[in-house]
Amino acid sequence: MNGKQISIGHRARAAGYTVHVTSGQLNSAGKWARECLGTNATKAIVVSNPTVFAHYGDRLVRSLKAAGFQTASWLMNDGERFKDLRSTEAALKYFASEGLTRDDAVVALGGGVVGDLAGFAAAIHLRGIRFLQIPTTLLAMIDSSVGGKTGVNAASGKNMIGAFHQPSGVLVDVETLATLPKREMTSGFCEAVKHGAVAGRPLFDQTAEYLDRFPPGRSAPASDEFIQLIIKQIAFKASIVRQDETENTARADSRSRKVLNFGHTFGHALEKVTNYRRFRHGEAVGQGIIFAAELSKNLEILGQNEVKLLNDVVHRAGRLPSIPDVGPREFLEALKFDKKLTGGHIQWVLLRGIGKPLIVSETDIPRRAITAAVKKIIKN
Ligand code: NAD
Ligand code: GLY
Repeated sequence: MNGKQISIGHRARAAGYTVHVTSGQLNSAGKWARECLGTNATKAIVVSNPTVFAHYGDRLVRSLKAAGFQTASWLMNDGERFKDLRSTEAALKYFASEGLTRDDAVVALGGGVVGDLAGFAAAIHLRGIRFLQIPTTLLAMIDSSVGGKTGVNAASGKNMIGAFHQPSGVLVDVETLATLPKREMTSGFCEAVKHGAVAGRPLFDQTAEYLDRFPPGRSAPASDEFIQLIIKQIAFKASIVRQDETENTARADSRSRKVLNFGHTFGHALEKVTNYRRFRHGEAVGQGIIFAAELSKNLEILGQNEVKLLNDVVHRAGRLPSIPDVGPREFLEALKFDKKLTGGHIQWVLLRGIGKPLIVSETDIPRRAITAAVKKIIKN
């Protein structure tokens, strides 16, 4: 298959997998799936949603059939609120009714919602079967399809149920972004800015310069320059995941997988206080980046120029929904959600400079620094 491959080797696994970044190769997805899965796989169940499937489902199914797979499709409802156990159970029932065995596989076609749920269902069907990711949003291409975090939302919070389950391969076809709404491109680019901010100047500058010339709505997704950016973004994520696959809770160094949560603590709080309705995930992360920069400045580890730069580049990704009119107390309460993830204390990912992430326990941060950052962001 044409395109560029990025290998994702894992210390914890005997075999890694590759991410294939291509333009216009969805028609060859069957051949690629056969290369990833080998000849013993008989069935490949496509998991998608009606929006994405209407654009790309037929091409994928035809290609899988041409490569000798028996195939069928299960479509979940479109939306974050359907990324839950109920949809997972429906998917599992479908897998069982189709007689999906441990030699077979699931193929996720869609954004992060589809990929997270399909991967989780694959992780628990018959104690784990293989799955492939074909991401169709920018966010899913550079972030959620790579690294093996799968899961669904629960009453206790977002992504509270899940498993680390690595895909057997990821196929990125940037041409699928042609149909993606502008707002979803903004959301994906916010995650791209996040990667740049924790990776270092080369990736940050490359992302910022691309956004300067091609802001969402004016971008040329299939250009070579865009493909190179996607490759660099994925390669950075892979470099982190490769050496901290399951986000070791004891690690707090600058290569820990936790650094990929930059912007997420405040982002999660923002999604929570707006009942997960006002912000796309990446947009909330965009505001979270601005917040984390402000907090880093309050702690005197980041200079005003870098705060301004981060603000500027986040806003190049597009207009973000405004911060809702709720008081600082409500935000401080919502921040507590992240405690559930990290042994009772929030682990803030802060910056000492572009490419210099610092993981700090909330116990080491004066409360007034957080309150001041919350008040500042509410005012803006
Ligand atoms: P999404 O999956 O909801 O997709 C956004 C919208 O775009 C949906 O309406 C979808 O139907 C539509 N869409 C997708 N591809 C399209 C295309 N090519 N053309 C037209 N429409 C298309 O949102 P997302 O931003 O991709 O993913 C967000 C999810 O990803 C969240 O649940 C988040 O928690 C998760 N996430 C997971 C990880 C991880 O490591 N597993 C990382 C980041 C985010
Ligand atoms: N999106 C954060 C991670 O994959 O760890």
